[in-house]
Amino acid sequence: MTARTWDINVCKLHWLIATTVTFQQFTSIWMSDPGTQYLFPFHRLVGAIAAGVLVLFWIYSHAYGQFAMLFPWGKAARREVVRDAKHLFRGRLPASGPGIGLSGFIHGLGVIALTGCALTGAIMFAMIPPGHAGPPDDPMAFTRYTLQHKFFGEVLWWYWWGHVALALLHQVTGDNVFGAIFRVKKH
Ligand code: HEM
Ligand code: HEM
Repeated sequence: MTARTWDINVCKLHWLIATTVTFQQFTSIWMSDPGTQYLFPFHRLVGAIAAGVLVLFWIYSHAYGQFAMLFPWGKAARREVVRDAKHLFRGRLPASGPGIGLSGFIHGLGVIALTGCALTGAIMFAMIPPGHAGPPDDPMAFTRYTLQHKFFGEVLWWYWWGHVALALLHQVTGDNVFGAIFRVKKH
């Protein structure tokens, strides 16, 4: 079974988001340790790129009408989400691919967590003087933003583990979700 087709630009944006954001998450584990602090400038730079890609993602999602899928607020859409959740409790995975339901709703929550990280990250990026790795002019404000950044970072980790685990579960049950979103052929 193959998941329904994602739009090519959604696939390209997802490639960029999945690689840069996963890089951000893993560098963040080691960049504060004495031997691996050299990772911080990379986190700062790739973070700025990820934030730029996310802006494109928001614009494209709006233009392409993806908001209905990512943020299912309407009554009918909410009913779809609840129905998928009930099925999940009975051991049936929600439908993959583009469409309104539980998967899209969770993807939307992930995009919100990522946006929190990107906003606070972009502010911290701007607070570090050019050509320096730190310290910033206003250390108190900088610390406040790191705490907010950490909060969204935690949520993003929860999302990441759930997202990757569910994708793997779909894949091993014969639904080629990786092939569909990453546009790779299954041989
Ligand atoms: C934290 C980084 C990530 C974010 C924010 C993210 C976000 C998203 C979003 C928003 C979608 C829906 C497509 C759309 O509406 O534009 C999606 C789909 C998907 N993502 Fe990710 N993703 C991330 C990382 C990953 C990684 C690392 C993998 C795999 C190793 C992955 C696998 C998939 C798959 C298989 C789908 C298709 C799901 C389906 O068919 O229902 N994602 N992702
Ligand atoms: C979309 C882009 C970004 C993502 C997804 C991201 C993600 C993360 C994550 C997951 C953490 C670990 C949080 C935790 O400890 O639980 C982190 C830490 C951190 N990030 Fe980012 N980041 C991004 C951009 C940036 C940028 C542009 C900067 C600029 C300076 C930055 C600075 C930091 C700092 C200073 C920490 C350490 C916070 C602390 O432990 O006190 N990040 N980031």
